[in-house]
Amino acid sequence: MVVIKKICCIGAGYVGGPTCSVIAQMCKDIAVTVVDVNAERIKAWNSDQLPIFEPGLQEVVESCRGQNLFFSTDIDKAIKEADLVFISVNTPSKTFGIGKGRAADLKYIEACARRIAEVGIGNKIVVEKSTVPVRAAESIRRIFNANTKCNLNLQVLSNPEFLAEGTAINDLKNPDRVLIGGDETPEGGKAIQALKSIYQRWVPENKIITTNTWSSELSKLAANAFLAQRISSINSISALCEATGADVEEVAHAIGTDQRIGSKFLKASIGFGGSCFQKDVLNLVYLCEALNLPEVARYWQQVIEINDYQRRRFAARVIGCLFNTVTDKKIGLLGFAFKKNTGDTRESSSIYVSKYLMDEGAKLHIFDPKVKKEQIIQDLSQTNICDDDPDRVSRLVTVALDPYEACKNAHAIVICTEWDMFKELDYEKIYKAMLKPAFIFDGRRILDGLHEKLQRIGFQVETIGKKVTELIPFTASKETSRNDLQAPAAKKLKI
Ligand code: UDX
Ligand code: ADP
Repeated sequence: MVVIKKICCIGAGYVGGPTCSVIAQMCKDIAVTVVDVNAERIKAWNSDQLPIFEPGLQEVVESCRGQNLFFSTDIDKAIKEADLVFISVNTPSKTFGIGKGRAADLKYIEACARRIAEVGIGNKIVVEKSTVPVRAAESIRRIFNANTKCNLNLQVLSNPEFLAEGTAINDLKNPDRVLIGGDETPEGGKAIQALKSIYQRWVPENKIITTNTWSSELSKLAANAFLAQRISSINSISALCEATGADVEEVAHAIGTDQRIGSKFLKASIGFGGSCFQKDVLNLVYLCEALNLPEVARYWQQVIEINDYQRRRFAARVIGCLFNTVTDKKIGLLGFAFKKNTGDTRESSSIYVSKYLMDEGAKLHIFDPKVKKEQIIQDLSQTNICDDDPDRVSRLVTVALDPYEACKNAHAIVICTEWDMFKELDYEKIYKAMLKPAFIFDGRRILDGLHEKLQRIGFQVETIGKKVTELIPFTASKETSRNDLQAPAAKKLKI
């Protein structure tokens, strides 16, 4: 039985950092060193200001950092000493050449494999944790075989990470399953057992699934594609709801109670974001095309098309409601992260909604509780977002320090991320400071319980997956103008 005493994790990002912090907390007898080429990031991991915001992470890191959890830039030393090396580097979609925009760029993975082959000695298990295309482990193995010296013996495993940002610590401590794929040889079996013995310290054995390497790699892509597909499915239904008078929340509840369907991942939204879904579905599409399976490729491609459509559709609804023009109009955009409880903005739908509004000349005042100003400016300045007009961002975008500032004198509030704090804002105060008619576009259905209240305050509330609702007439007849109608009612109800 191979016993793991030292672990090295290459890549101190959203996957490597939290995963190895939890492993260190659960296995006090194993020394875990997380390394990265990015010295700034490592410095942050060693400070009180961790480089990523993740609920509960700080406590886990503080419970073992300096004891059996270390963050370092000395990559070679950590590789040399380790019995097991996790590769947790980024695998973005390629931005150039063959497979541009779809195939995963494996240059960081390859660089790690070459480094391990060069500096490694003794027996090592190399574990791919990053999401990779199917057969990436095979490429790593070939690099090892072509470069390995006689004093180095490597086994390659696939152990994809299923954590979701914002709930990473709970996902790691109580996973639905742990998946380990490896070679169907005696050596492969021993390596699988060694990794399994680490997880067994806190994960019940029946939740640890072992497969061959390719099944493991494909399962990760397929899991993300299925989840993304559910979101695109419900988002496509949300368009139908808006056109018919059905309410997508009611439909989602009604269909989700069927145990065969289940209730999760049926929340209509402005489209999924994050570093994984789009990348992995596109990766799957590319794989199918490469394997001459065009029908399968087209099927999955449609998941992305609906996601793009949903983002465009939402922005178009904002523009349509604002009397078909947003040029020079101030819009308070609340939420820039791709979901709540993270500061991550990768592929956030907020970026695309902002783009479509900027295309029409809207003046965006953006607030997010966890995303830094520099990140927002950087995301909106990408060439595909700012349409080769770099001045556009400085002309049209202001990053606000608080939500009230973002909404003051605005024509509309556009909610893009479901942060809990947006449910608790003083909407009466916000309404008073806005131009009238004042619109709220709820892209996340977080204000559902408040719609009536908001309408009584005077807001025109527009929400994903629900037909535009008529304002509730309280004290005046239908002929009375909207503003005359709403303000007294709001006062009367003391909302
Ligand atoms: C996802 C997978 O859930 C995780 O297993 C995998 O390891 C990495 O990719 P993540 O991207 O961190 O995790 O977040 P997730 O909670 O899956 O949300 C992804 C996007 O879908 C977010 O933009 C979220 O707002 C959106 N979403 C999610 C919806 O629009 N509706 C839903 O019902 C669920
Ligand atoms: P993920 O969400 O997959 O964790 P991140 O971008 O957050 O992706 O993290 C990946 C990390 O991997 C980055 O901090 C990056 O600097 C690091 N990295 C990339 N290539 C290498 C490499 N060859 N050696 C060490 N670290 C690397």
